[in-house]
Formats: sequence, structure tokens, C-alpha cells
Amino acid sequence: MNEHVDPAHSSDLPTPALVIDGDVFDRNLAVMAATHPGPALRPHVKAHKCTSIAAAQASMGHLRFTCATPREVIGMAAAGLGHDLLLANETVDAVRLRAMAGLDNPVTVAVDSDSTLDAAVAAGIERVLIDVNVGLPRCGVAPDAAGRLADLARSAGLEVRGVMGYEGHLMMVTDRSEQAERVEAAMALLRRAHADVGGHIVSAGGTGTFDLHERTGVNEVQAGSYALMDTHYGRLGLPFEQAVFVLGTVISVGDRYAVADVGLKALGMDHGDPDLVMDDGSPRSVWFCSDEHITFSIDGGSTGGGAPVVGDRVRVVPAHVDPTMAMHEVAWVVRDDRVTDRWPIDLRGW
Ligand SMILES: Cc1ncc(COP(=O)(O)O)c(C=O)c1O
Repeated sequence: MNEHVDPAHSSDLPTPALVIDGDVFDRNLAVMAATHPGPALRPHVKAHKCTSIAAAQASMGHLRFTCATPREVIGMAAAGLGHDLLLANETVDAVRLRAMAGLDNPVTVAVDSDSTLDAAVAAGIERVLIDVNVGLPRCGVAPDAAGRLADLARSAGLEVRGVMGYEGHLMMVTDRSEQAERVEAAMALLRRAHADVGGHIVSAGGTGTFDLHERTGVNEVQAGSYALMDTHYGRLGLPFEQAVFVLGTVISVGDRYAVADVGLKALGMDHGDPDLVMDDGSPRSVWFCSDEHITFSIDGGSTGGGAPVVGDRVRVVPAHVDPTMAMHEVAWVVRDDRVTDRWPIDLRGW
């Protein structure tokens, strides 16, 4: 296991290795903090599941966090990052709700039904946010039913802090003016619900819409992927750079293809194949991934670059960062090819 080594250079890392380019990561955090300073960003930890990364986000002034699982909430609190945690997701798990209710700082939990509210009340949760459906067919109460749920929560003695409404269906709209228009329409639904619900928080947004909330009424953006990025979001031309990749080693070379040791058990594949770049920076086209292998063309095409040999290192760039992070125990931070940090991915599980 990676835990037993102490590599000095990225070439010493056992592969597959999850690697973060520390300088790029710093730049991404700075760009986001300049757009959404302090509490205007509630970073979503689901994108990285790593308290070391959350601590870096906190050092940029973002002290409130968004979580997707009770495990993330409890792990963040244990790491001293529990000042204001939002579980932006529904649960009726009594054991996990009670564990969150027992934390030093009160946790805020999203509710979208009488059942999720009842479960929160029974477990001793004190604060809720009304989760509103703004068009993504996932969680969220209908906008015109949000006020009733808020009244019910208050009558049960809970503090209703406001609303959230994640416009996930609009993250990848590539036409920016169409995206802005549709985000505004979705947030009009959230504002309508907020007028009935009350409270101070109007929480929404993600990396793909991070800069479209100037006039939507949203007062905290829940972006997470921006810190590390992936090729999926990379297509949008956002001001964030690719900071994470999976380092691999070429283990076999055929006549037209080569094989490295980064398979679909080291990569989130739901957004498609990853990109692959040789050590000299020249890209190669990916043929396919299997459990423990990635098969790619040896031909560098017009970008040049020689045929790989066994032992060469490759950078495999994930199409979806969130599930990729969740597949690794540790991320190695590299600056100028020196390994400067080892960050456990310590918020995995549920
Ligand atoms: C509730 C919620 N908020 C915000 C986000 C934004 O994340 P990202 O930065 O990946 O767009 C997500 C992602 O799935 C989410 O589920």
C-alpha cells in the first residue's frame, strides 16, 4: 500500500497514483476565492472527499462546507472543519442522523418531504434547509410546497435556515447565454420558494455555473470540482485548470498500442474515457479501459513523441473527478516534480 513509502519525486510513486499538481490547485482556489470570497462559497467536499483539501479551502476563507454524505459531515467535524456543515442531501438513516446531531456544532440537513423532516426531528437535528427541485430530477420539494414544509419544520421546533436548489441539469450547457438564461429561470423557482420559506440562506450552484449567480439571489455557491477539475468540465472553458491526474506506468507495448496500469478501478468512468498524456507532454488516444489496464495508441500523431517503452510514465486525466477521488486512499501533492504532501482521501464511505 502507498502508506508505506515516502517518495521524494513523482517518478518514485508506486502506480497507479493519484497526483495533485499543487501549484495548479493553488491557482484554482485563488480564482474561486476572488469570485466568491469567504461565505459566498460553500465548497462541496463530495468532489474530493479529503479534509486536507478542505483545510486548504478553509485557509482561503471558506469556513462553511457542503457535504453529500453523513460520513463527510462527521469526518469534517472530526478534522476541526465543522464550524458550519450542510448535508445537502436527504437521509432517513436514524443512526447517522443521530451521529450528526451529536456533533459539537449544529449541522444543517436538507429535507424535501415530511418523512425526511420527521427523521431529522426524531434524531435531534436542530437546523434544516428546504431542498427545492429547480429542474433536476433528483431530490427537492416542488417550489410551491416548500413553504408548507418550512412551517412544519418550525412547528416541530427546528430552525429553518433557508433554501437550496441544485441546478445540476444545467452544469454542462455549452452555450453560455443559453446557460445563463436557464439558470436564471431555475433560480426564479428557488426565489419563489424562498419567499415562502424565509431564512437567510439561498444555496445553489456548482462549478459549471459558478459565475452565473450575480443576480440570481443565491448567496452561497456550492461548487466543488473547481479545485481539481476533470476533462468533462475542462470542455467548458472555465478559468480553472486541470490539477489532478492518475499517474501510471507502461507495463506492456504491442505493435500499435501500449498498456498502462491505470484501469477503471482507478478512474471514474461515468463521463467517458479519460485523456492520456505521455511524460513528455504528448497526448495519445485512448482505446479502452479495463479493470486494471488502459490501452492506448502508441502513435503520437502530429504532436510527435516517440513510441512508449515499458516503464515509461503516463498521466491519465479523469473525465469525472468525484468518483475518481473516491477510488483512491491517498493523493500525492507534487510541486516542480517533488512530492511535497500526502493527503489521505479520508471522507470516503457513507
Ligand atoms: C447538491 C450539489 N451541490 C453542488 C454540486 C456542485 O458540484 P460541482 O462543483 O461538481 O459542479 C453538486 C454536484 O453534484 C451537488 O450535488
